[in-house]
Amino acid sequence: MLVRKNILKIKPYIPGKPIEEVQRELGLKEVVKLASNENSLGPSPRAVSYIKKNLKNLNRYPDSTAFYLKQKLAKDLKVKPANLITGNGSDEIITLALKAFVNEGEEVIIGDTTFLIYKIASQVANAKVTIVPMSNFRYDLETMRKRITNKTKMIFIANPDNPTGTYVARNEVSRFMKGIPKSLIVFFDEAYYEFGRQKKDFPDTMKYLNRGNVIISRTFSKAYGLSGLRVGYGLSTPEVIGYMDRVREPFNVNILAQGAALAALDDKQFLKRTLSNTKKGKEFLYKEFDKLGFEYVPSATNFILVDLRRDCKKVFKKMLSSGVIVRDMKAWGLDTYIRVTVGTERENKKFITALRRIL
Ligand SMILES: Cc1ncc(COP(=O)(O)O)c(C=O)c1O
Repeated sequence: MLVRKNILKIKPYIPGKPIEEVQRELGLKEVVKLASNENSLGPSPRAVSYIKKNLKNLNRYPDSTAFYLKQKLAKDLKVKPANLITGNGSDEIITLALKAFVNEGEEVIIGDTTFLIYKIASQVANAKVTIVPMSNFRYDLETMRKRITNKTKMIFIANPDNPTGTYVARNEVSRFMKGIPKSLIVFFDEAYYEFGRQKKDFPDTMKYLNRGNVIISRTFSKAYGLSGLRVGYGLSTPEVIGYMDRVREPFNVNILAQGAALAALDDKQFLKRTLSNTKKGKEFLYKEFDKLGFEYVPSATNFILVDLRRDCKKVFKKMLSSGVIVRDMKAWGLDTYIRVTVGTERENKKFITALRRIL
């Protein structure tokens, strides 16, 4: 057989349907995409303005070290540039960590209702994946810790989590970290950090960085609205970052993404608008779900997991023909749930109208 055996076990990742595809297939003019937890306000305007001015440099390779972006992040986060690695989205930080640290056959511990890439990327690495059930849609850190064996090399914690939208609090993380051996890496995926930190008891995981076995990843895809550019970063000790750098493609973050991300960090206005739109949108959607009698999981992110008590695939298809793309939760085994990203006021209303119509 040509292909590596472990690749046969992998179920390919199915992303949210792109707008263009739905327009083309269903002949719809207006399609609203609330399926991939993107920023409904568009990209950070400062990032866009940077890109417009810098198209002329596209003949050049990007800076392999992302020098200026790391300088800026280091200053903002009060760390050294050597504590940072940039990635083609924070997805790449996940795969770099696995490449650098997990040998074939070693164990990776993940939650059961979490970001699908942990499982896929671990299978690519031919690691053994231990799946720990969540408790009421929340990470059960205590049980995850108990599942550690002498073969465990990495534990993934999405905080806040996708698709549940829940988060683990400061005291839970603190208790968990006390029992973690130095022989394995705790990977905190903080793709929704900017939303999560609005919660008073959201943990400051940066304080664990110096232990030498903690990696934190964050992204410009969500709060900064730059999903399409693919840029994220990882934080750890210079030693850990150094190993990840060895397995990184030299030009993994493109030239426009580096500068646009840097510009977005200064776009405080946009971040403020994003957080306020998300808060208002969630309040609106919670109220509408209450009226319809649907249970949802209170979210610390820009999306909501909701139980529609009917086949989610069917709902997904009907919503699609109304021009609204949501995410059905079949891939997570939640057969009656969908996940909806908070949109603009207009998009949220369109979603609710479509939902009411199909019920
Ligand atoms: C929990 C989580 N981690 C990581 C990512 C990856 O984001 P990106 O690669 O765009 O930074 C996502 C995207 O949806 C996510 O939900």
